Amino acid sequence: MAADSLFRPFTHKSLTLKNRIVMAPMTRSFSPEGVPTPEVAAYYRRRAEGDVGLILSEGTVVARPSAKNDPNVPDFHGERALAGWKRVIDEVHAAGGKMGPQLWHVGSARNPMTTWVAPPPVDAPSGLSSPGKHFTEPMTDEAIADTIAAFGKAAADAKRLGFDVVEIHGAHGYLIDQFFWSGTNVRTDAFGGATLAERSRFAAEVVKSIRAAVGKDMVIILRLSQWKQQDFTVKLAQTPDEMTAWLTPLVEAGTDILHCSQRRFWEPEFEGSELNFAGWAKKLTGKPTITVGSVGLSGEFTAAFRGESSKPASLDNLLRRLEREEFDLVAVGRALLSDAQWAQKVRDARHDELQDFTKEALARLA
Ligand SMILES: Cc1cc2nc3c(=O)[nH]c(=O)nc-3n(C[C@H](O)[C@H](O)[C@H](O)COP(=O)(O)O)c2cc1C
Repeated sequence: MAADSLFRPFTHKSLTLKNRIVMAPMTRSFSPEGVPTPEVAAYYRRRAEGDVGLILSEGTVVARPSAKNDPNVPDFHGERALAGWKRVIDEVHAAGGKMGPQLWHVGSARNPMTTWVAPPPVDAPSGLSSPGKHFTEPMTDEAIADTIAAFGKAAADAKRLGFDVVEIHGAHGYLIDQFFWSGTNVRTDAFGGATLAERSRFAAEVVKSIRAAVGKDMVIILRLSQWKQQDFTVKLAQTPDEMTAWLTPLVEAGTDILHCSQRRFWEPEFEGSELNFAGWAKKLTGKPTITVGSVGLSGEFTAAFRGESSKPASLDNLLRRLEREEFDLVAVGRALLSDAQWAQKVRDARHDELQDFTKEALARLA
């Protein structure tokens, strides 16, 4: 199938993109002491030169002591780190690209790849690392307020440095998702509750804090997932009505685009419809959405961490859905991690030049 639908421009508020391809946020851990290096800037610049419509950075952390779980993950606070990010966005803009940082706080999620431990206090809504598993003390009111403010401050810095959008990492079992999930949020105050709408309060406050910091025109993207790294089978919303209850307060708080993370984009979200998560999120909220998950590759991404390779795969199913406008944008992870020219190869139908994804790609910034 011709890939024309991927190469139509997209506009929302102050953001105009030349095509529908988004580089998915991917942690690379190449920023010693949290400072993005010139090599990191060159890595993102190459994706802009390769005609990626919107680049989302790897998760980059807000100013809380334990926001990261790996010392080489970049900070989005402090003079040196922000100077590194300024270089990144200037190089991406010089190459004609658009970009936003993915603002992140890991909460109580540890990193199996490292023994490094962040300084306390660890922030987790109820002090749990997974359902029933005590890890630390529940977040105090003061820690919650400070964390919400830290997201707002990081977003203000993103705008000041010249970034085009801001993405909030609300997915995959990290801090914000730990508030959504009843398995890790058993609080009895205003940040907890029996319903998803009640447990969305923390994320909504983060969105509001960011909106207040960046003004009304800058696009705020919120990344969400039903699945958790602690349990791939979890579904926060079991029905469309529950999904509406989850997403409505987030949209009302000021989210512009919902980034709906699946491991395989073609999997239906609810029985009786082929719509995926991004399809339902768009239908239920009317907001633009981004889909993601094994686009253009045969295997899903968590297998990559176990060393599994993936082969190029057909885009036809994705293109049919995009043509039906089930979602607006398409995030691509590993295919773009290993090949900065992926978008151009797809546009020009150079299919025989598309590469396998292999674990070696994770070891370098190519
Ligand atoms: C090396 C690597 C690092 C990742 N780091 C992040 C991250 O920092 N934030 C995030 O939201 N998702 C992260 N992800 C998930 C990707 O954004 C994406 O959702 C996933 O790879 C599925 O897309 P793909 O199948 O096209 O690779 C990461 C994935 C990979 C492979």
